Amino acid sequence: MHNTSERTESGRAVHFPQAFLWGAAMSAHQVEGENVYSDWWAWEQTGSVRDRSGLACDHYRRFREDFDMAKLLHHNAHRFSIEWSRIEPEQGRWDEQAISHYQQVVSALKERHIEPIVTLFHFTSPQWFSKLGGWRHPQAIERFGRYVERVVDAIGPSVRYWITFNEPAIYVYQGYVAGAWPPGQRSWLAAFRVLERLLHAHTMAYHLIHARLDGQESRPLVGFAKHMVVFTPCNPRSRKDRLATWVRQNYFNGAIAESFGRGHLLPRLQHLLRRSLHRRYLDFIGLNYYTRDFVHFRGWTWGKLFGEVCSLTHHPDAGVRNSLGWEIYPEGIYQCLKQLARAGLPVLVTENGICTNDDGQRAQFIHDHLAQIARAMSEGVPVLGYLHWSLLDNYEWHEGFTPRFGLAEVDYATQARRMRPSARYLAIVAKTRQLVTVNGMAE
Ligand code: FCB
Repeated sequence: MHNTSERTESGRAVHFPQAFLWGAAMSAHQVEGENVYSDWWAWEQTGSVRDRSGLACDHYRRFREDFDMAKLLHHNAHRFSIEWSRIEPEQGRWDEQAISHYQQVVSALKERHIEPIVTLFHFTSPQWFSKLGGWRHPQAIERFGRYVERVVDAIGPSVRYWITFNEPAIYVYQGYVAGAWPPGQRSWLAAFRVLERLLHAHTMAYHLIHARLDGQESRPLVGFAKHMVVFTPCNPRSRKDRLATWVRQNYFNGAIAESFGRGHLLPRLQHLLRRSLHRRYLDFIGLNYYTRDFVHFRGWTWGKLFGEVCSLTHHPDAGVRNSLGWEIYPEGIYQCLKQLARAGLPVLVTENGICTNDDGQRAQFIHDHLAQIARAMSEGVPVLGYLHWSLLDNYEWHEGFTPRFGLAEVDYATQARRMRPSARYLAIVAKTRQLVTVNGMAE
């Protein structure tokens, strides 16, 4: 196999540091299968979404086989989430078998020299928690805290990287504004209350993890995974489009990251205009990056101020799209990294990937995004690693099983896994820590 190295503008080959984390990310509900106690499972049974998760990838039983594959692919890190509804299927009843399962998951990763990166909350809650009012209930933080305590006691000493919440703004938007995910509500007020509660749950978990695990060999690092989108005005000459874009950019991207670092919600102008981010409750920031959106003005009332995402068909200059219609815009990851760098914290790319039926497109996607990450690093942004979404094809929430995000293809009828060439491409980069071209590999 012949590899062609990429060169920087100065002519030097692009190398990643020795300690760089390479791997994939997944979440419990999307791969484990039969998460019968979660609110998402209940939601699927109501017919609100196109597919039911069912056995998903049966990863709950096949995790060792899947981690063998990650090992073969030279991954040295793996992000997964713990399913709260398995650990506490009824309020106050702790399932020791489920707890021991996640201990085995962590051990299986460690045996393969793969760093576990644990997400505590990735969109799903136990049904009992939702029935009691979910995150709207004043005791939600205490309830979540008891679960976090259990997890930290069970696997804490073996885990260095903790992600409290995955994409809080997306979770709140889908569940409380758009009503597309459980609990299926449509209220901006509820959304803000819940966002604030998640924020307090985050700071609580931040303290709890540090209180229990500081003083160990390596200090735990606690962060959250921020979904960032690059926003650009639909018509750059329109002041109103530029305003809507500014509001979206500052609230969706800036203010949420700022709030999680600061520990309280702050849609205040002076904070948005500051050039730095607060970092009291974050040891690192996780970045989930997929796409760019074009935004146009919608009106002056609350909600409308965020503008509206415009269809890409109006933008012949936009890049190609993935199979869900999201534009592929690699330079965006560079822009997001530069923005996050203002916090002065290390950034871990906790998700980046593409759903496509054309695997060549996936390999190119990986290459192009890594090139932009390397560019940000060469300008001083401290990036800890790259976790591709995802190791396997999986259950893409309301989009069901159709989108194919995996480095490995899953045949859902047989549960057979087949590594895609793009997985091998990423493996070569991870092994050599050098950015090689996709064509170079194919020769
Ligand atoms: C992210 C989610 C993840 C997955 C990818 C495609 O927003 O965190 O669970 O659905 O998108």
